[in-house]
Amino acid sequence: MAFKGLLSYELSNKQTQTKMLNKRLEGELNAQLNAELYSAYLYLSMSGYLATKNLSGFSNWMKVQFEEEQFHAMKLFQYIIDRGGRVELAIIDKPQSEWKGILDIFEDVQAHEEKVSSMINNLVDVAMQEKDHATVNMLQWFVAEQVEEEASVSDLLDQLRLLGGQGSGLFLLDREAKQRVFTPPAGA
Ligand code: FEO
Repeated sequence: MAFKGLLSYELSNKQTQTKMLNKRLEGELNAQLNAELYSAYLYLSMSGYLATKNLSGFSNWMKVQFEEEQFHAMKLFQYIIDRGGRVELAIIDKPQSEWKGILDIFEDVQAHEEKVSSMINNLVDVAMQEKDHATVNMLQWFVAEQVEEEASVSDLLDQLRLLGGQGSGLFLLDREAKQRVFTPPAGA
C-alpha cells in the first residue's frame, strides 16, 4: 500500500473506531462541567464562611469538597477532549456567601448534592437516547460518586442535628473534620 493510501486507510479506520461526541451530548457535558465548577465555587464560599465562624475543621472539610469538585470538572474536561469534542467554558454563577449557621449550611450541601445527582441521572438519560455507550459508561463513575457524596453529607447532617448544631460535641466534630484530606478517587 502506498504511503498516501496507508494514511487514508488509517484515518478512516480511526474514524470508525472513535465516534466523536455528537453536538447535543457535547453541550450537555459542557453544562455539567460548568455545574461542577459552580459546585467547587459554592464549597469554597462555604469554606470561607465557616472560617469566619471559627469552625476551621468544617472550613477544611469544605475546602476538600472544593478540591473534589475540581477533580469532577477536570474529569469531564478531559473526557470531552478525548472524544474529539470542544470544551466551551461558560460564566460561573456567583455562589451564596451567607448562611444562618452550621445546620443551614449542611442542609444546603445536601440539597445541592441531590440536585447534582439528578443532573447526572438526566445526563445518563441523554447519553442513552443518543446511544453513546462510552459516555454512559464514563458517567457510571459519577453515578457511584454521587451515592457516596450524598451518604457522607447525610451522616454529617444527622450528627449535627443530634447536637443541635452547637456545644462541645460541635467542637469535637469540627476537630474531626479537620483531619479530612483530598485523595484523588481510585479508578477515576
Ligand atoms: Fe461533583 Fe458534589 O458533585
